Amino acid sequence: MKGLILSGGKGTRLRPLTYTSAKQLVPVANKPVLFYGIESLVSAGIREIGIVVGDTHAEIEAAVGDGSRFGARVTYIPQDAPRGLAHAVLIAEPFLRGSRFVMYLGDNLLQRGITALVEEYLQLGVDCEILLTRVPNPSSFGVAELDATGRVARLVEKPKEPRSDLALVGVYLFNETVFDAVKAIQPSPRGELEITDAIQWLVDHGRSVHAHLVSGWWKDTGKAEDMLEANRTVLDGLEDHRGTATVDSSSRVEGKVVFEGPPGSVVLVDSVVRGPAVIGEGSRIERSFVGPYTAIAAGCRLNRVEIENSIVWEGSTLEDVSLRISDSLIGRGVVIRRDPERKPKAHRFLVGDASEVGIGE
Ligand code: G1P
Repeated sequence: MKGLILSGGKGTRLRPLTYTSAKQLVPVANKPVLFYGIESLVSAGIREIGIVVGDTHAEIEAAVGDGSRFGARVTYIPQDAPRGLAHAVLIAEPFLRGSRFVMYLGDNLLQRGITALVEEYLQLGVDCEILLTRVPNPSSFGVAELDATGRVARLVEKPKEPRSDLALVGVYLFNETVFDAVKAIQPSPRGELEITDAIQWLVDHGRSVHAHLVSGWWKDTGKAEDMLEANRTVLDGLEDHRGTATVDSSSRVEGKVVFEGPPGSVVLVDSVVRGPAVIGEGSRIERSFVGPYTAIAAGCRLNRVEIENSIVWEGSTLEDVSLRISDSLIGRGVVIRRDPERKPKAHRFLVGDASEVGIGE
């Protein structure tokens, strides 16, 4: 089996972070979301991985490299524009030909990985296997209708009036019959070759399509609140403490906390860190509270702040913020600081396009 990871999207719903960073590299519990996908393919025994890349290819290639650090061999497949998931399959045909494959959307996270699914697909010997899960908002996804016997009858991409609550999860298993499908279909009204249409073509042409209902959580990390939810879910799954920090006598560490980097590189001074949380290498936390579901990346400085349920990227400084910071996504090298000496006494912002600031007092 081979793997095909789709990593071409622009991530417009995660602006402004995605103006300067690929959406697939947005960190969840201090690890780029894309790495979870690569790791689940490798755990399922898939080592030949193609990654379809778009505008953000340089950044993705710099982060993933040749795949050897994951125990995989990675081939990059450039897509000139976001022309749809089925278009990605079409252009990946030279890489995929002769092999069955798993297509994995680079912004999806599955709690249980894909090992059991790959085994099931190989054992069933069907042409295609799709994963479905019940969601409260099916119109945001590809939606499947099953017939009375549980077979896939119809697939519709983001229907306005969904006829079921079964959403397509972003992991699909195919054999070579999918190439006939992606060549036969036409672009949808939004101008993309839709994978839902390709799978519908398989159904309509008598190919076997098996639907597997996913138990366990699944996240599509398209928006800020999805990122925070994925971060919470991964942190909730932490099995234990890891790493050690330099902790002074007036600091406390409660619950499961991961300190990254060499032992002692994270420094806590007169602070409380209450897990589940992860703190990156070399970060320094003074007179502060880091509450549950927080991921602080490497090289951050926190001084006299309280923060919870948030993601902070590398090298940011949070200082003297009187009200607790919560539900926040804070990019790289950001400075948030109270500056009471400065006149006039006012809020001062240097905030990029499409940013969002919520003032709580
Ligand atoms: C894509 C697919 C959709 C699927 C979803 C899962 O949508 O087109 O069918 O349900 O991924 O993450 P996108 O997230 O690209 O809008």
